[in-house]
Amino acid sequence: MEKILVTGGAGFIGSHTLVELLARGYEVAVVDNLCNSCEEALRRVRRITGRDFRFYNADIRDRAAMEGIFAENAFDWVIHFAGLKAVGESCQKPLEYYDNNIGGTLVLLETMRARGVKKIVFSSSATVYGTPEVLPLTEECKTGGTTNPYGSTKYYLEGILTDLYKSDGAWDVVLLRYFNPVGAHPSGLIGEDPKGIPNNLMPFVAQVASGKLKKINVFGNDYPTRDGTGVRDYIHVVDLAVGHAAAIEHCREPGVHVYNLGTGVGYSVLDMIHAFEKACGKQLPYEICPRRPGDIAECYADASKAGRDFGWKAQYGIEEMCRDQWNWQSKNPNGYNQ
Ligand code: NAD
Ligand code: UFG
Repeated sequence: MEKILVTGGAGFIGSHTLVELLARGYEVAVVDNLCNSCEEALRRVRRITGRDFRFYNADIRDRAAMEGIFAENAFDWVIHFAGLKAVGESCQKPLEYYDNNIGGTLVLLETMRARGVKKIVFSSSATVYGTPEVLPLTEECKTGGTTNPYGSTKYYLEGILTDLYKSDGAWDVVLLRYFNPVGAHPSGLIGEDPKGIPNNLMPFVAQVASGKLKKINVFGNDYPTRDGTGVRDYIHVVDLAVGHAAAIEHCREPGVHVYNLGTGVGYSVLDMIHAFEKACGKQLPYEICPRRPGDIAECYADASKAGRDFGWKAQYGIEEMCRDQWNWQSKNPNGYNQ
């Protein structure tokens, strides 16, 4: 069976993808410096799957550590999740974001090249489309015009990976553009565990439901959308995890393979709050606040290319997303730190 290095595997999307890969019989190893995660997530992945794997507590920018990891393992693929992802923080600390996300990826790619490992799946984002000119967004839509350093790292890294393929046609590069990942594994054992006050809507809503936070701040109700609040394409993290495994099984030819991973359906902030109220069985207090700078009105995918090419389609809707996010939140009110 093929062996996969998962960078950032202790994180939210990485841990769910590990479950899916292990269930399909892949051998995996994880490298993560735990800057936004903890080892307990990996212990729980082992519990869910009943399978073991190596964990390297290392920074992907640490060249010696990366060379050591590749020397010890014969990897077929790398799935590259490791990176910093907070939009607001990236505006305060642009150099740290460029160093971690771009610097880290360069060290990873150099190590891969030296070892002849030339298959990589990269965590990209809908943010590379900037402000959408048309909706739904297809993979052919224009990219660029990113509005913050985090988004720019994703845009530049897509370019760097494409240049790498142009320089050496043996590379197999898969760029997966995620829309808004939410929810948790249905076991309630793994989920998103943001440090401090959550930046993203759904973990914030979940913490209001559990009583940790008082009320939801709705960032603007004067957008040109159905109810005036921002519309996004929320996707269950388990669907996203399945998308990675499906992409690896399909993208067997060298090239640059680009796929949107979303549901194709947009929901507003108020839609999501009301769906969560149903899942948790209580009313959730919210307040309309000013728009958050840099936010766009609406963003959703045309995700049909992944369906056409490798039969992937999101299975879960917002009911399951909210049910599983609430299950995780109520069983782990303090995340992994019980
Ligand atoms: P996360 O923060 O939960 O996971 C990222 C993991 O990478 C963490 O475990 C962190 O400790 C690790 N990491 C960061 N820098 C590292 C480094 N230099 N060396 C080793 N490990 C490092 O985030 P996530 O939500 O699971 O996101 C995974 C990837 O998907 C990221 O690249 C993110 O930018 C991308 N993405 C996320 C979203 C989203 O909304 N969650 C949307 C689009 C794209
Ligand atoms: N929102 C609120 N209140 C909150 C948080 C968010 O009303 O407390 C609103 C936002 O204004 C937006 C929607 O909820 O309309 C979703 O916001 P999120 O912060 O959850 O997600 P974004 O769409 O802003 O960004 C996310 C990731 C980015 C990624 C992008 C596209 O955080 O990293 O999706 O993939 F780039």
